[in-house]
Amino acid sequence: MENFLLFLFLAIGSNNFSGPLPSELGSLVNLEEIYIDSSGVSGEIPSTFANLRNMQIMWAYDCSLSGKIPDFIGNWTKLTSLRFGGNSFEGPIPSSFSNLSSLVTLQITDINSVSSSLDFIKNMKNLTDLSLRNALINGSIPSNIGEYKSLQTLDLSFNNLTGQIPSALFSVDSLTHLFLGNNGLSGTLPQQKAVYLKNIDLSYNYLSGTFPSWVTTGSQQLNLVANNFTFDSSNISILPGLNCLQRNFPCNKNAPRYSSFAIKCGGEEMKVDSIVYEADSYDLGGASFIVLDTQKWAISDAGLFSDGQFNTHVQNTGSQVTGTPTPKLYQSSRQSPGSLRYYGLGLENGPYNVSLSFAETVFGDQGSQTWTSLGRRVFDIYIQGTLQLKDFDISKEAGGARKAITKKFNANVSENYLEIHLFWAGKGTCCIPDQGSYGPLVSALSVIPDFKPTVGIAHKKNQTALIVGIAVALGISGLILIFLTFYMRTKRHNDDAEVHLSLFMK
Ligand SMILES: *[C@@H]1O[C@H](CO)[C@@H](O)[C@H](O)[C@H]1NC(C)=O
Ligand SMILES: *[C@@H]1O[C@H](CO)[C@@H](O)[C@H](O)[C@H]1NC(C)=O
Ligand SMILES: *[C@@H]1O[C@H](CO)[C@@H](O)[C@H](O)[C@H]1NC(C)=O
Ligand SMILES: *[C@@H]1O[C@H](CO)[C@@H](O)[C@H](O)[C@H]1NC(C)=O
Ligand SMILES: *[C@@H]1O[C@H](CO)[C@@H](O)[C@H](O)[C@H]1NC(C)=O
Ligand SMILES: *[C@@H]1O[C@H](CO)[C@@H](O)[C@H](O)[C@H]1NC(C)=O
Ligand SMILES: *[C@@H]1O[C@H](CO)[C@@H](O)[C@H](O)[C@H]1NC(C)=O
Ligand SMILES: *[C@@H]1O[C@H](CO)[C@@H](O)[C@H](O)[C@H]1NC(C)=O
Ligand SMILES: *[C@@H]1O[C@H](CO)[C@@H](O)[C@H](O)[C@H]1NC(C)=O
Repeated sequence: MENFLLFLFLAIGSNNFSGPLPSELGSLVNLEEIYIDSSGVSGEIPSTFANLRNMQIMWAYDCSLSGKIPDFIGNWTKLTSLRFGGNSFEGPIPSSFSNLSSLVTLQITDINSVSSSLDFIKNMKNLTDLSLRNALINGSIPSNIGEYKSLQTLDLSFNNLTGQIPSALFSVDSLTHLFLGNNGLSGTLPQQKAVYLKNIDLSYNYLSGTFPSWVTTGSQQLNLVANNFTFDSSNISILPGLNCLQRNFPCNKNAPRYSSFAIKCGGEEMKVDSIVYEADSYDLGGASFIVLDTQKWAISDAGLFSDGQFNTHVQNTGSQVTGTPTPKLYQSSRQSPGSLRYYGLGLENGPYNVSLSFAETVFGDQGSQTWTSLGRRVFDIYIQGTLQLKDFDISKEAGGARKAITKKFNANVSENYLEIHLFWAGKGTCCIPDQGSYGPLVSALSVIPDFKPTVGIAHKKNQTALIVGIAVALGISGLILIFLTFYMRTKRHNDDAEVHLSLFMK
């Protein structure tokens, strides 16, 4: 009986297998489904797998499969679901994939070396989920994308796409999640249908022009950070703060006001030694960016909310974090399902020291025989767009869970802004202990000048920290903002201690 099952279905789960896939598996010609996740499986997919013509579902997540994605997969014409993520595959995605017209789900993320265009999707008209994230896709989005009538999720973020966003895309009724961030796409936003999209990420493109009306009337999550929009008094308050987070980061450019900032990620304000870590306890669950009204710093959170519940706001419910004189700094953290960016705005140009504080507070210790200890969190750290640490694993670096680790970096600010980017490239476990327990996690950060600043020495009066831009479900955000502003103003009048001071209390 067991043998019979094995012929249809093969699953290699968390950590119970290592080394290359046995080439003998290629003789199991009746095999229809292969599932591999978070295991030590490595090396190329054996050439004998060309025989597996009955394959319908193949998933391989978070392992070390490498080499090129084999051409012969284009001959598995019964495939309905192919998911490769967090491996070490090289591009391009084979052109033979154009044979795979039965595919319903195609997710290929995190590809190295060689780019692919989108030509290979031309016959995949039954797709409901097309996710090619961080996969070196270049060229443009096919203009006939409107013919993919079943498409629900389109994630082409973190690629090198160029050209216009086809207006036909917005006639696909079924589409609910659209992620086109981090490309070189241009053009204005189409008016049609976007109202039905639940999740729209068009960050890091070159969009410009006037906002379509659905930007204010829709109830979607929307991220338009780092585009080429310009604003005037008629539209600057539609998505408050967004004007500061365009490509050229215009707020206080050439007129810097700050020379340092520090943030208590996912938590309330806290003072440690001379540094005041400003509060970042905002609920980003349904939001995509926040800019403080001081225009001092901002957050953008993008990508992959589509898996439903995701906790961007993590409290440490276990024992205290060790390896630090200030365990309180690690009681809360911010977590992201994709790309978490903190921006320093209006900074005086010059060299800075960046310090990021981490502790793994979700997973248990590796080898401690508990279920949560099987979780692994792996992400990349970029500063000013330069990769600083690849496959960063907090527990591994710190020597265990609930141990503090601080990483320090140098950065140059030359255009009055600083970007700290924590990026999930598909590595690590996804679902231990819960769905969504993965992605960048950070507890605090500080940025101090490595030069003698001429601005940003504390002036108590101006340094309040009202939030001006939360792009949460847009229909109700106006109410939330009014309430928050009122609340904080009231507090300010009654209690001087509530005033947020800037970093240096000289
Ligand atoms: C795909 O199938 C065709 C026809 O059976 C065969 O000629 C070709 O060699 C196969 N391609 C690969 C890469 O195995
Ligand atoms: C798949 O496409 C390639 C060309 O890209 C072709 O040579 C091959 O025969 C096709 N295989 C099948 C089974 O249609
Ligand atoms: C696409 O889906 C339809 C409806 O489920 C099905 O009849 C058709 O065979 C599918 N096409 C391919 C190429 O699998
Ligand atoms: C995409 O990248 C490939 C490989 O680097 C290159 O040959 C091709 O010209 C690029 N296409 C576009 C449209 O930039
Ligand atoms: C993507 O485009 C940018 C800017 O044009 C370029 O610097 C980068 O090398 C490209 N990356 C790839 C993988 O083609
Ligand atoms: C704001 O309005 C001006 C004209 O008044 C226009 O040029 C600009 O594109 C608009 N920006 C947005 C984001 O709608
Ligand atoms: C961005 O907008 C400016 C004008 O506001 C324009 O000069 C520039 O060419 C635009 N950049 C791109 C890449 O579209
Ligand atoms: C900052 O700029 C200095 C001088 O141009 C250079 O030596 C240094 O390597 C730069 N540091 C970083 C982190 O880019
Ligand atoms: C910044 O870091 C460098 C080491 O990279 C150190 O020498 C310097 O003292 C630091 N500056 C400040 C202000 O802490």
